[in-house]
Order: sequence, then C-alpha cells, then structure tokens
Amino acid sequence: MPLYPPSLEKQFGERRGKVRVLISAGPTRESIDPIRFISNRSSGKMGYALAEAAVKAGHEVMLVSGPVSIPRPAGITGFIAVESATEMAEAMKQNFPDAGLTVMCAAVADYRPARISQKKLKKSSGTMFLEMERTEDILLTLGKLKQPNQILVGFAAETDNLEKNALSKLERKNLDYIIANEIGSPDKGFQTDTNEATAYGSDGSAVHFPLTTKETLAEQILKLVLKTAD
Ligand code: PMT
Repeated sequence: MPLYPPSLEKQFGERRGKVRVLISAGPTRESIDPIRFISNRSSGKMGYALAEAAVKAGHEVMLVSGPVSIPRPAGITGFIAVESATEMAEAMKQNFPDAGLTVMCAAVADYRPARISQKKLKKSSGTMFLEMERTEDILLTLGKLKQPNQILVGFAAETDNLEKNALSKLERKNLDYIIANEIGSPDKGFQTDTNEATAYGSDGSAVHFPLTTKETLAEQILKLVLKTAD
C-alpha cells in the first residue's frame, strides 16, 4: 500500500507521517565480458544521503543500490544490491507500487554492450568496436506507472543547458520534481561530499539549494518534495 491516503494529501498540499520511500543510488555496471564492464563515477553518496535523511525523518526506506564502496545506511527497511541497469529496473519496478515517494538518484547506464562475451575478449592489433544498445529508461517506465498518490522524483546530471534539459526530463518522464544537478566542477556532482542543485516542480516551481553537504541537501530535498515543515 502506498504511503498516504494520497489524493487528499495532494489536495491540501501537506503531508505528514510515515512514508514508504524507494531510492536508487550509485552507478550501474554493464558487462563486456567476464572481467570488463562499462560504468560511471557515481559514488552513491547523494542517494545514500537521501536514504539516511529519510530514515532520520521517520520514513520506511527501501534502497536499491549499484556497486559502491560506502557503508549501507543504518535503519533502512530494505536493501537490494544490483549491478546492471536491467537488474536496477527489475528492483525498482517491483518495489514501486508500494512506494509513496520514489527518488531515482542512481546514475543508470543509457547504453550497454549489445552482446556479453562469455569468454575474456582477446586483444588483436587492430581497433576494437563495441556495439552498444539502449537500456530501459527506468524513470520513464515508472512515470507511466505512477498513480495519483505517488510522488516521483528524478535527478538530472548535466554539464550544460541545465534548466532546459531538466525541464524536458520533468515533463517527458511525468515526474513531480526533477533535481537539476550541475556536474563538472570539483565541488558538486559525482563523488564529492558537497552538492548544489535546483528542484523544478511539475507545478512550475523552482527552488535553488546553494552549495552544501550532500546530507543537508538530502534533507532539503525531502522536505520540499514531501511538503514537510522545518
Ligand atoms: O553518487 P554520487 O557520486 O554522490 O553522485 C550523485 C549524482 C551526480 C550521480 C546524482 O546527484 C545525480 O545527478 N544522479 C542522476 C544521474 C543521471 O544519470 O542523470 P541523467 O540525467 O543521465 O538521468 C536522468 C534521470 O533518469 C535520473 O534520475 C536517472 O536515475 C534516470 N535514468 C537514467 C537512465 C536510465 N536508463 N534510466 C533512468 O531511470
């Protein structure tokens, strides 16, 4: 059962009490052969900070995580370790119907090798080409499944045209909020302990969160999307 007796909460613009929160964090790994993979620089810090903030605020938290090397947050209700985008999609789709709030913070691969070699690929003298195919856009799928009592939040990691790209994802993926995360400078985005972001809402709102720790930003994001007071 999703968290709130929802539509009423939405109507009155205020939400209280315990919410089932589903969070994805970290990178995915897309195998090339038994020993090689394609991945990205996500450390899991932002997603894990969101999980910790949600526990601290008294919510039930299910965390779906790609491979990271940081400790599992204390107090979470459930944890699913995944590797590939396909595994992450499976775990998210399975748990989504029970979640009142879902936040896709994971850096999911957009492409994976079209074929996974069962044997270690041997080098040769020539250039090697790897054919890639699209992975499922998990957030897009969840946006189509979303019910009126569910809140769906995505992240947009962008090096340029932050607002335009974030707003396009907000609309295309049927999100309630998108957290626009500018990346490319040393103090925000991937792997850092600090971050800066702007939350764009489907109601046309825009809230900027100046540079702060990922822990503080996580608390600010949760308060905004759950409309809980300070
Ligand atoms: O883990 P850290 O080192 O702390 O770094 C945090 C972060 C930079 C990874 C995080 O703050 C962040 O911005 N996460 C989103 C990264 C990303 O993949 O953004 P995107 O713009 O490519 O994707 C947009 C949204 O679609 C994201 O919510 C993503 O989870 C989702 N997505 C993307 C691809 C895909 N196949 N399925 C998805 O659901």
